[in-house]
Amino acid sequence: MSLLFSPFSIGSLQTANRLVRSATAERMADQDGRPLPTLEALYEDLAEGGVGLIITGHMYVHAAGKAHDEMTGIYDDDLIPDLARLARAVHDLGGRVVPQINHGGMNSVAESISEPIAPSAIDQPFLPRPAREMTGTEIETAIQAFAHAARRCREAGFDGVQIHTAHGYLISQFLSPFVNKRTDEWGGTAEKRMRFLREVCSAVRDQVGADYPVLIKLGMEDGVDGGLSLGEGAEIVAALEGMGIDGVEISGGLGGMNKTLNVRKGIKSEAKEAYFLHLAQEARRQTDLPIILVGGFRSRSVMEKVLAEGVADLVSLCRPLISEPDLPRQFELGLKEKSRCLSANNCWAEGPGVGIACKCPHDRVGETAFS
Ligand SMILES: Cc1cc2nc3c(=O)[nH]c(=O)nc-3n(C[C@H](O)[C@H](O)[C@H](O)COP(=O)(O)O)c2cc1C
Ligand code: SF4
Repeated sequence: MSLLFSPFSIGSLQTANRLVRSATAERMADQDGRPLPTLEALYEDLAEGGVGLIITGHMYVHAAGKAHDEMTGIYDDDLIPDLARLARAVHDLGGRVVPQINHGGMNSVAESISEPIAPSAIDQPFLPRPAREMTGTEIETAIQAFAHAARRCREAGFDGVQIHTAHGYLISQFLSPFVNKRTDEWGGTAEKRMRFLREVCSAVRDQVGADYPVLIKLGMEDGVDGGLSLGEGAEIVAALEGMGIDGVEISGGLGGMNKTLNVRKGIKSEAKEAYFLHLAQEARRQTDLPIILVGGFRSRSVMEKVLAEGVADLVSLCRPLISEPDLPRQFELGLKEKSRCLSANNCWAEGPGVGIACKCPHDRVGETAFS
């Protein structure tokens, strides 16, 4: 029996199988963050392709947190009708879709941002501009921005919400001792660095109600000297159920600084797949919550093994679904055993109006990354 194609429930969210499309910034929105028709078409391709749950590319909850140009917005009620169209398009095809909500913090490099904000002032070579320390009022504004973005997910008809707490964006900046040097109630100890996440989760739950599925994508360790350690990440995982979270997707890495830790290149053997497995194993020891694992899955056999061993309940894919949005269907029909993705990271959008696309060379039909 295939575990990969058995149904699963995350709170009240039911998925037809265990395959998740991990959040992927599509860069298919106009300058106000309104989704373009290309985004709706992409979600239709994914839904038709059989993935159990689509997590959208990160959407900015506040103008000050717009991570990059062409990012989808969820910062205003005025956007709800456009977002509702995306939800409807997926539902009409029998799919499930959950927006990922985000604030870029120091990694807000959209043209509209003159001065990025962060838990503490920071100037690093990986940042295009130095960021200044947030005021108490800005912190409260950001918390409420997440809460109202979550409410908009519900009002637009999405199946839940995912709070982006990974890859060096604002919430993971608060968690990280490498970035958060505050000595007030928002920093100084691991518990105080966790406070921003706690307040976001609590404000989100207040807005969406008890039964709405609230997921989180958590960077369990930063992978940089002086950053969030695995031990601290484990403590955060242990606290998630108490924060009202229904399911956790495990990732790692501090974004721009070490992007290839999170979006790893050169996955040329099965041994290199599932590269955050050790994080999920630790997460499993800490929580009974449903666990989604992302990072380097390419072979069906590796996905089935991770599920069979009980390390994760679902597996999520980003690049394989950029390359082949119908990969789940191909797996299910037995037409393929491996993604053709070469993990060379040629999928980032190049310039305005282009959007993500698979640009690695694939000469032969059915070509796989390795045999
Ligand atoms: C083009 C691109 C855009 C991405 N955008 C997001 C995003 O919006 N939110 C997020 O949490 N991760 C994002 N990621 C990271 C992926 O979700 C995923 O964690 C990572 O690529 C590893 O999975 P993979 O080996 O299946 O690609 C992005 C990755 C790529 C390649
Ligand atoms: S461009 Fe390369 S890394 Fe990106 S999805 Fe295509 S094959 Fe994979």
